[in-house]
Amino acid sequence: MVAKMVMVMLLVVLIITNFDATTSDGVLTYGFYEEKCPYLEDIVRHTVASAVYRDPGIAASLLRLHFHDCFVMGCDASVLLDGIEGMVSEKQAGPNINSLRGFKVIDWIKHQLEEACPYTVSCADILAIVARDAVELRGGPRWEVPLGRRDSFKASFDGANTYIPAPNSSLEILIANFKQQGLDEYDLVALSGSHTIGKARCLSFRQGIYDPNSERLHHYHHHKRYKTTFRQTLRSICPETGRDNRPAALDYSTQFLFDNHYYINVLQGRGLLPSDNVLLAEEEHGIASLVWEYAYNRGAFFRDFAKSMVKMGNIGVLIGEQGEIRRNCRLINT
Ligand code: HEM
Ligand SMILES: *[C@@H]1O[C@H](CO)[C@@H](O)[C@H](O)[C@H]1NC(C)=O
Repeated sequence: MVAKMVMVMLLVVLIITNFDATTSDGVLTYGFYEEKCPYLEDIVRHTVASAVYRDPGIAASLLRLHFHDCFVMGCDASVLLDGIEGMVSEKQAGPNINSLRGFKVIDWIKHQLEEACPYTVSCADILAIVARDAVELRGGPRWEVPLGRRDSFKASFDGANTYIPAPNSSLEILIANFKQQGLDEYDLVALSGSHTIGKARCLSFRQGIYDPNSERLHHYHHHKRYKTTFRQTLRSICPETGRDNRPAALDYSTQFLFDNHYYINVLQGRGLLPSDNVLLAEEEHGIASLVWEYAYNRGAFFRDFAKSMVKMGNIGVLIGEQGEIRRNCRLINT
């Protein structure tokens, strides 16, 4: 009887370990290109560094590219595809048009990689490494990027319009939006810290600064969504009509530095987007207390940000024989 039970248990253990063994090659790994393309990370880093040297603002744009890739059909470089007959590019979608940039930096990296190790490195992996380097080059944390992503055969214009969160979303909507991607509210708070660099256009923050609701006190924190003087400044940059593309810094105090100032701004009613200030809207989810923690503890923010970036980089990835390795990030191989 006992022997029989031991046998059954052994069998169960075998099945479980075997199952693990067959699925473990279905995930991203560290050092995926170690032998196939040893200079990959050096090539990416040098190119991002020179692009950022010429244009410090490009770091933010490159970080955002990875985010907008991952939230639409997973991190599969779908965002990089140009439109062709019968397929509209994600670049044309509402959240991206006249806004996303950095594509030429990706092209230049891909070009060098096709010389160094042809047919080898996916555009989706390039985006993930580039995002990491962009953050680090602006003073943010560094993390190891798991690799092995493959590139999609198509783009999703509708997906980009559906899944990329809008800047006028309520906290509930933001939470639900991230949840759809397998990200929780801790990821939401940490990843929103990306808005410590870069800029947004008038079009993106206008609604917030003219919304009568922005006068309202936060239920719990007893201060206004927008500090009055700050809102005044923003209104002078962004009139009620016109000037749609005029930019303002997402972090007014240190826009080129990847630090934790974003959270200090939010606590002071100086977040630029409604979706930034709304993080303080409710007490329930522990979100507000996390904003406080990151405002006080840069190390905690850096640690959690890195962790959430790796998690975001795993969304819906194509692996193994799925998808392809594009030769040109803008086009599907023929
Ligand atoms: C929480 C939901 C989010 C919303 C509603 C949101 C919305 C926006 C909007 C509206 C802009 C300005 C676009 C423009 O006016 O041209 C922007 C910029 C930016 N976003 Fe987000 N975002 C969110 C989360 C994220 C995440 C998760 C990341 C990165 C992991 C990110 C990284 C950035 C960066 C770096 C910029 C500046 C881009 C530049 O200067 O070119 N955002 N975001
Ligand atoms: C958010 O903005 C979009 C486009 O500007 C608009 O259609 C939508 O009604 C707004 N949503 C809310 C909740 O205000």
